[in-house]
Amino acid sequence: MTGAAVHFPVATTSDRLLLRAVDEHDLDAVWRLHSDPAANRFIPAGPMTERAQAQERLAAWTDHWAVRGFGYWAVEELTNPGVVIGFGGVRSSRWLDRETVNLYYRLAPAGWGRGLATEIAVAGTEAWRATLADRPLIAHTMPDNVASQRTATAAGLARRPDLDAHDPNDPPGTGLHLVFALGW
Ligand SMILES: CC(C)(COP(=O)(O)OP(=O)(O)OC[C@H]1O[C@@H](n2cnc3c(N)ncnc32)[C@H](O)[C@@H]1OP(=O)(O)O)[C@@H](O)C(=O)NCCC(=O)NCCS
Repeated sequence: MTGAAVHFPVATTSDRLLLRAVDEHDLDAVWRLHSDPAANRFIPAGPMTERAQAQERLAAWTDHWAVRGFGYWAVEELTNPGVVIGFGGVRSSRWLDRETVNLYYRLAPAGWGRGLATEIAVAGTEAWRATLADRPLIAHTMPDNVASQRTATAAGLARRPDLDAHDPNDPPGTGLHLVFALGW
């Protein structure tokens, strides 16, 4: 396993967003976003139903930063500092038995439709390219999540039908994930 990446941005900005490493103060925001049915419509397991699930998710994210020196960012609008509207960025993952870097973006519905996910996805892709490009970058989406697919494409990832697969972590009966990638 590769160790901590050098110079991965703990905090960065895009045109309209502050992207900074998630920390223990983000629990309410993780819970709000991941228990929202609309923001989790395409998650095969559905939205979170218990706050403990958000605690577990946040602990995994902060541990990832502590161990590897990179990970997901909390997202705030520059015009509204201190209010987390989503999460995104990159994190270690595995796909088809290969070590990969997963590109993530999830926003509260109030933030949709303004190009903000594209800013997150572009920032994550740039950070991957600068520090982690020894491993492929992938985004995988459910077939009907068109907004997610277009966001991956807008960030420059290429559609790779040859990498489509079931995710072994999904509930039984879940369909194929559509994969977008760079560097594979
Ligand atoms: C997917 C998501 C992040 C998109 O956020 P957003 O800020 O509205 O996206 P953007 O405004 O940056 O738009 C990105 C692209 O998606 C398209 N898009 C956005 N919403 C769309 C929708 N409902 N249907 C179809 N296309 C859509 C945009 O037109 C744009 O495409 P283009 O570059 O070809 O014009 C947001 O809908 C979300 O958080 N959904 C729930 C979580 C999720 O599914 N995350 C991804 C899977 S892990």
